[in-house]
Amino acid sequence: MQKVYNDFFGTFGGRYVAEVLRCPLDELEQAFLEAMADPSFHAELAEAQRHFVGRPTPLMYAENATRALGGSRIYIKLEGLANTGAHKINNALGQALLAKRMGKRRIIAETGAGQHGVATASVCARLGLECTVYMGEVDMARQRPNVYLMELFGAKVVPVRSGSRTLKDAVNEALRDWAASWEDTHYLLGSALGPSPFPDMVREFQSVVGREVVEQIREQVGEEVEALVACVGGGSNAIGFFAPFIEADRPKLIGVEAGGRGNGPGEHAARMSGAGVEGVVHGYKSLFLLDEDGQVLPTHSISAGLDYPGIGPQLAYLGRIGRIRFTTASDAEALEALKFFARHEGVVFALESAHAGAVAMKMAREGSPDKAIIVNMSGRGDKDIFITAKAIDGEKWREFLLREASS
Ligand SMILES: Cc1ncc(COP(=O)(O)O)c(C=O)c1O
Repeated sequence: MQKVYNDFFGTFGGRYVAEVLRCPLDELEQAFLEAMADPSFHAELAEAQRHFVGRPTPLMYAENATRALGGSRIYIKLEGLANTGAHKINNALGQALLAKRMGKRRIIAETGAGQHGVATASVCARLGLECTVYMGEVDMARQRPNVYLMELFGAKVVPVRSGSRTLKDAVNEALRDWAASWEDTHYLLGSALGPSPFPDMVREFQSVVGREVVEQIREQVGEEVEALVACVGGGSNAIGFFAPFIEADRPKLIGVEAGGRGNGPGEHAARMSGAGVEGVVHGYKSLFLLDEDGQVLPTHSISAGLDYPGIGPQLAYLGRIGRIRFTTASDAEALEALKFFARHEGVVFALESAHAGAVAMKMAREGSPDKAIIVNMSGRGDKDIFITAKAIDGEKWREFLLREASS
């Protein structure tokens, strides 16, 4: 049986932090375990999931896509229909309720694609908590609509100018803030990684996705599910989607990393199916993209949310023992999948989840109609239009932007 709280997954995981962070992590672990054992916490969470987040999210049969591909049936779990447009809200809500229960008044968070920042800012507005979000300057530029939304929700967005000015640098800044502020502040970490108890906590709050899928398979799909497919940045949507299936030996669980634009260092973010090596970064042991001196390598993905050099420790472990199979989709394949599902199904995948969409398309083509593949659309693509519109129809979009800028 999967335990609610693990310090390690095989040799991965743990809590490799400076002395000053031991106390807040101990306090958090205690509060998390108490909340998980308290039916009133679960009731409060379920009520907010239903009336604030909009759960359950639908499982949609992608009938037109299935017909066009001519193989296995494709179903799409529409996490993009949750409030604020991505699965990130599930974890943000759970942790913010926990923080409130702990008597914290302030929340800090890091964000890459901005979806976690938007979800956190939204939940803080709803629960009356002060909110500060750290975000790399590069990510702020490429995910500008999300910066606007965070500020609309009343959050302070702090640009991070160190390192590569992306997610890993934002995590460093958030950890630095927390070390000095933890007595009244909760660090609402956005993926299934970091020092324990974060990987377990994030999995538990995201596993609402997988639990709904179990029900929806029973009601809508039947026995013939061949595979579940999810994109993997840090790993929160994947581990939440997979959670109820991990202990069984089927269906196949497929994690899709960012293949970027090539195989060389700095061209992708493929830790499992690529060049990840064992290391300790951001307070946990896992597989990371590191150079020969053990320094974190730059990464690249068209999607800011997959552009991270490490992977959650439980996913690294499940990959190592073969329960999850990892593969990649390139920037170009993700864009093709985004266009394909938009045209055939009227849904626009976030660029992150479009990587999973691309692999689902490939698998469906090779499969047969008596089998079903379920792909997690971890978010919808509204936030990405400044990237996708440029990539798909550059000239028209440029004209529009110039017109807007001069009006
Ligand atoms: C829509 C979406 N999907 C996936 C991810 C990747 O994160 P994770 O692997 O934690 O699900 C992000 C990260 O920002 C995201 O915004």
